[in-house]
Amino acid sequence: MSAALVFDRVSKRYATARGAFDALHSVHFEVQPGEFFALLGPNGAGKTTLISILAGLARPSSGRVSVFGVDVQRDPMQARRWLGIVPQELVFDPFFTVREALRFQSGYFGIRRNDDWIDELLAGLGLSDKAETNMRQLSGGMKRRVMVAQALVHRPRVIVLDEPTAGVDVELRQTLWAFIARLNRAGSTVLLTTHYLEEAEALCSRVAMLRAGRLIALERTAELLKRASSNVLRFKTDQALPAEIAQRARATGRIWQVKVHDAVEVEQTLAALRQAGVVLEDIEVRKADLEDVFLELMAAQPATAEVHT
Ligand SMILES: Nc1ncnc2c1ncn2[C@@H]1O[C@H](COP(=O)(O)OP(=O)(O)OP(=O)(O)O)[C@@H](O)[C@H]1O
Ligand SMILES: [Mg+2]
Repeated sequence: MSAALVFDRVSKRYATARGAFDALHSVHFEVQPGEFFALLGPNGAGKTTLISILAGLARPSSGRVSVFGVDVQRDPMQARRWLGIVPQELVFDPFFTVREALRFQSGYFGIRRNDDWIDELLAGLGLSDKAETNMRQLSGGMKRRVMVAQALVHRPRVIVLDEPTAGVDVELRQTLWAFIARLNRAGSTVLLTTHYLEEAEALCSRVAMLRAGRLIALERTAELLKRASSNVLRFKTDQALPAEIAQRARATGRIWQVKVHDAVEVEQTLAALRQAGVVLEDIEVRKADLEDVFLELMAAQPATAEVHT
């Protein structure tokens, strides 16, 4: 059986006012049928570019992309039937109601009498009471839910979500993930991009990381987490840390997180802080998570993308 998705040495060069810009450098990976797969990377890494090529909205400069063996360039209609893509940017027709938008989308795929499935989608995404509301009267988060429903009306084999939870409240995030996880258990393949790494950690069995258009990691989530064998010492303080500790710490406001390997290192770090007269609050030690691995990998790679003039 062929892979659900194949990105075969995909490169993308954009022409810009400053010269040619390489957004993707020979990116190569496969997603297997039934996988829940995360595509991660910082802003500008090339995630949306890769998804646009998959969607047939952009052409690769070289390489090819296929969906269950169907080349998205050669047979875009068939590829589109198998793909349900939720784009990062909200696009909608303000004059449609939610139900009309979903019926229209069904019609595009030649599906009639789709209301049972549409009702199921609306219920699963917490939109049942908005079915007859005009798109322009929905909140941002609700519009995003409709975009998800729209991508699923034709029961695609592969569901692609480009930051579906950006600007979405906690409750909907949970509803959305429960629904997508159910479709995944029923056999759908899922490719997800997100900046909420705890989502990727909780949901995805495998992770690809992009940085400046290059694939820098492709691994099972569990393996990636194992690689970051260290723990993290977390505390709050308003004071400056000694340079030696600040070096292996990161700060979010007054919260500091310091990488520590074992209990001895925890003790040494706390002793050094006490000696420096730093007063700590809310001390805790936790296992390194995907965010720690991500930051570590990002720090280890050069950030520069080449511009050719
Ligand atoms: N049409 C375009 N013309 C020129 N450059 C582009 C174009 N679209 C994207 N880029 C550039 O390609 C790079 C990758 O952009 P892309 O949108 O794929 O990133 P991303 O990983 O999706 O980021 P984010 O997390 O912010 O959504 C960026 O440097 C961006 O400026
Ligand atoms: Mg993007």
